[in-house]
Formats: sequence, structure tokens, C-alpha cells
Amino acid sequence: MGFAVGNTQDNFNYKVVRQFALVTVLWGIVGMLVGVILAAQLIWPDITMNISWLSYGRLRPLHTNAVIFAFGGSALFATSYYIVQRTCQVRLFSDQLAAFTFWGWQAVIVAAAVSLPLGFTTSKEYAELEWPIDILITLVWVAYAVVFFGTVIKRKTKHIYVSNWFFGAYILTIAMLHIVNNIEMPASLFKSYSAYSGAQDAMIQWWYGHNAVGFFLTTSFLGMMYYFIPKQAERPIYSYRLSIVHFWALNFTYMWAGPHHLQHTALPDWTQSLGMVFSLILLAPSWGGMINGIMTLSGAWHKLRRDPILKFLITALSFYGMSTFEGSMMSIKTVNSLSHYTDWTIGHVHSGALGWVAMITIGSMYYLIPRLVGQKEMHSTKLIELHFWISTIGVVLYIAAMWIAGVMQGLMWRAFQPDGTLTYSFVESVKATYPFYMIRLLGGLCFLSGMFVMAYNVLKTIQNKKFEDAPIPTVAVAAAH
Ligand code: HEM
Ligand code: HEM
Repeated sequence: MGFAVGNTQDNFNYKVVRQFALVTVLWGIVGMLVGVILAAQLIWPDITMNISWLSYGRLRPLHTNAVIFAFGGSALFATSYYIVQRTCQVRLFSDQLAAFTFWGWQAVIVAAAVSLPLGFTTSKEYAELEWPIDILITLVWVAYAVVFFGTVIKRKTKHIYVSNWFFGAYILTIAMLHIVNNIEMPASLFKSYSAYSGAQDAMIQWWYGHNAVGFFLTTSFLGMMYYFIPKQAERPIYSYRLSIVHFWALNFTYMWAGPHHLQHTALPDWTQSLGMVFSLILLAPSWGGMINGIMTLSGAWHKLRRDPILKFLITALSFYGMSTFEGSMMSIKTVNSLSHYTDWTIGHVHSGALGWVAMITIGSMYYLIPRLVGQKEMHSTKLIELHFWISTIGVVLYIAAMWIAGVMQGLMWRAFQPDGTLTYSFVESVKATYPFYMIRLLGGLCFLSGMFVMAYNVLKTIQNKKFEDAPIPTVAVAAAH
């Protein structure tokens, strides 16, 4: 079997993939550690000794930015760069631009890690970073689009593999969301004011916020799923046709569902109903993706018993199915009147974020990292198995505690006495929540310990290995795969 060797164009660019893959583990630990501190602060508010830059209000956006954009974002850069090269059978469009995206993205992360604890914020959720950082994000993102689509354009294969469709949609949509939601007037280097106001501001913010979930935390990770599940299961995708149908349906539907974040607010009532209807429709394409991924295992179910990487990938899809079902239900106005403002939302968030996003990432990284250092497997499969079980227990503890706490809070807040007075004061509901906060903290600690196990396993896997680019198989070999 002939491998083309010689100049760089005969090799895949693995350097940037490796860099992004390794920082994924690092930022995962940092972001989740901050999550654990937040969980502890909700039980013991004085645990950070009243130091202002460690206060809850500053650490919370640090957590969301770190887990979504540093951990999730780095994982997406790594996997999209890897997959686009492997499936297009060419090296990345530009090594220099790819390197710029790595260092540029790390600069954004460091700027966030400094500016958020210092209290600089636009106050828009998931878009807290101030305008100079927004500009840097735009530059990095444009470079990312050029590298990604440039690689697709110069591909040697005729076909554009479905993962690339998902990554392409996410790159384009995030560019649009980021620019529209962050149109703002700078007042100083560290303060800007949004171009929008009132209900319009809220609507744009949640059009952004919901699609950040839809494209940054879902469409993109489906791209990851469509490559790593067939690879690890050694089976073709269950239905290629379904993947195309749910791709278009998902992208079209997500765009309209944002107002479900603003039920029973000053938003025009018809927009709230529209958001609800589209959220219910969204269940169909979401489950289309889940079913397609899980059914890829048909004929290979036995592999699940022995292969912890596959366990991560398939469990992630199950959580994806669960959280999308739950989300569609929570968008119904009557259900939302109970769930909104309660910890039920936090449970939903983390069944998506830990169960789906983090687990699909972890499974994909266990497949990817050894291959980036010329190995077929991670240093220890037993440690992957251990990681799988402690993180699964961690997610279950986290979300079950939040579900119970959330429904309890919602019911306590709406309980009335016959004379019309409230049965419980707010603080009584806070007190009743403490045991569940303890369970959530325990779940978070389990998940975080799993990440340390992963870091050890990764270090052992890359230790004393050659960091080299891999050769691009010749066309004949590529066709055979
Ligand atoms: C060890 C793991 C984690 C722990 C212990 C943790 C803990 C927390 C806590 C305590 C909050 C604040 C809840 C509140 O304000 O009531 C929170 C919010 C949030 N976390 Fe995590 N988290 C973890 C991992 C993750 C991951 C991996 C993601 C995303 C990929 C994530 C995404 C979010 C988001 C989006 C919010 C804001 C939710 C909202 O505003 O409704 N978390 N997390
Ligand atoms: C069919 C798919 C989904 C639908 C219809 C949906 C619907 C919803 C609804 C109704 C809320 C509560 C809004 C509120 O009362 O404030 C919500 C919150 C949230 N969901 Fe989902 N969800 C879906 C999937 C997901 C997935 C897969 C994830 C994560 C990967 C996710 C992450 C979030 C986050 C982060 C929030 C909290 C936003 C905030 O208030 O800060 N959702 N979702």
C-alpha cells in the first residue's frame, strides 16, 4: 500500500489538530473546576472569602465561556480540522491561517479569563466579552472559515462528507450570530452599549443565545458524531439520506425557536407562540440525528460491551435525545411557567452540556489523540472505562438533583393558601434546595475527577511519542477506505 511522502502538501496538518486537542483537555478541567466552585458557592456563599473577582457573578460567566468556547470551541477546531482533511484527502488550505486560529483563539480565552473576573462585561449572556475581544473573535472566525471552506474547495474527493456540512453550517451561522448580536457602541476601551434596546434587545439576544446552543453546542457536535461513531463502530452511517434530511430540517427550525427563552415576558405574544411551535417541531430533526447515530451500531451492538469509547459516544447521543425531548417540553408555555427561573433549567442545560457535548467530545478525543501521535490506542483502556463510569454517575447525580429541585421550587413558588397568601416564602424554597445542591456538587466533583483521569491517560499516551504530520494516502488507497 503506497503512501505519498515528500513535501508538506503530501501530509495532513496534524500540528494544529494536536494543539487544539490537547488544550481541549486543559480547558475542560479549568472550566469544570470553575463549575464546581460555583456549585460550592451556592451552598457556602462565603467560600471564596468575599474576594470580588472570585464572586459568583463574575465566576459564572467565566464558567460558561470556559466550557462552551474554550473547551467546546477547541474540541470543535480540532475535530473539524481533522475531519475536513481526512474526508477531503487534502492538507488544510493554509498552515499559517490555521496557526493564527489556534493562537488567536487562545488569546481570546486568556482575555476572557482576565476580563470577566475583573468585572468587564456587556451583560449579554454567552456574549459577555467586551468589544475589543469581539473584534478578535471575528478575525479568528473569518480565518477559520477561510481555512475550512478553502480545504473543502481544494478537496480531492468528489463528495463532501456529511460532517463537513454540519461544520460548515455552524461556522457560517456563528459568524452571523456573533456579528448581529454584538453590534454595539464603544464608550471606552472596556465598556460598550448594545445597539438594541428593550424587547428588541431581548429578542436579538435570545435569537443569538438559542442558536449558540443550536449551532455551537449541537449542529457542530453532530458533525463530530457523524465521523467518530462510524469510525469507532467500524460501520457506515445507518442512513445517509436521513443525515441530509435532518441537516436541513434542523438548521431551518433552530432559527425560529429563540423566543422560548422569553415566555411570559414583554415580548409580543405571537412571537412566544411561534417559538413554542418551532421548538416542538425541532424534536423531529433532533431525534432524526440521534436515531441515525445510534442505529449506526446495528449489527455491532456487542462492541458496546467492551469498548468504552463507543460507550461515551452512544451515551452522549442518548443524552442528546433526552435533553432535546426535555427542551421541546419546556418550551410549552404552561410547562415553562413552572420550569422557568428554577433549577430545572440548569438540569436541562447540563444534561445537554455534560451528557451530550462533554461526552461526545471526550469519546472523540479518545479516538483522536492517539492517532495524532502515531498510535492506534490510548495508553490505558481501563482508565477510559473508569472515566466513563464516573462521568456517567456524575451527570446522573447532577441532573436528577436539579430536576427534583427545580420542580420542587416551581411548585413551592406557586402554592397559595385559601386566603390568597403564599404558602412558602422564597427563602424557604432556597433552604429546601440545599440537599440537592450537595448532590449536584458531588456529581460535579465526579465529572471533574474523570477529567483528571483523562489528562493522566492523555499525558501517558503522548509521552515520548513523535509529533509528526501523517501522510495523505494515495488516491487508490483512499478509495479503498
Ligand atoms: C463539572 C462540571 C460542571 C459543573 C459542576 C457545573 C456547574 C454549574 C453551575 C453551578 C452553574 C450555575 C447554575 C446556576 O446559576 O444556578 C452552571 C451554569 C452553566 N453551565 Fe455548568 N457545570 C459543569 C459543566 C458544564 C459544561 C461542560 C458545560 C457546557 C459544555 C456547562 C454549561 C453551563 C451553562 C450554559 C450554564 C448557564 C446555564 C443558564 O444560564 O441557564 N457546564 N454550571
Ligand atoms: C430540541 C432541542 C431543544 C429545545 C427545544 C430546547 C428548549 C429549551 C427551553 C424551553 C429552555 C428554557 C428557557 C427558559 O425557560 O429560560 C432551554 C434552556 C437552555 N437550553 Fe435547551 N433546548 C433544546 C436542546 C438543548 C441542548 C441540546 C442544549 C445543550 C447542549 C441546550 C442548552 C440550553 C441552555 C444552555 C439553556 C439555558 C439558557 C439560559 O437561560 O441561559 N438545549 N432550552
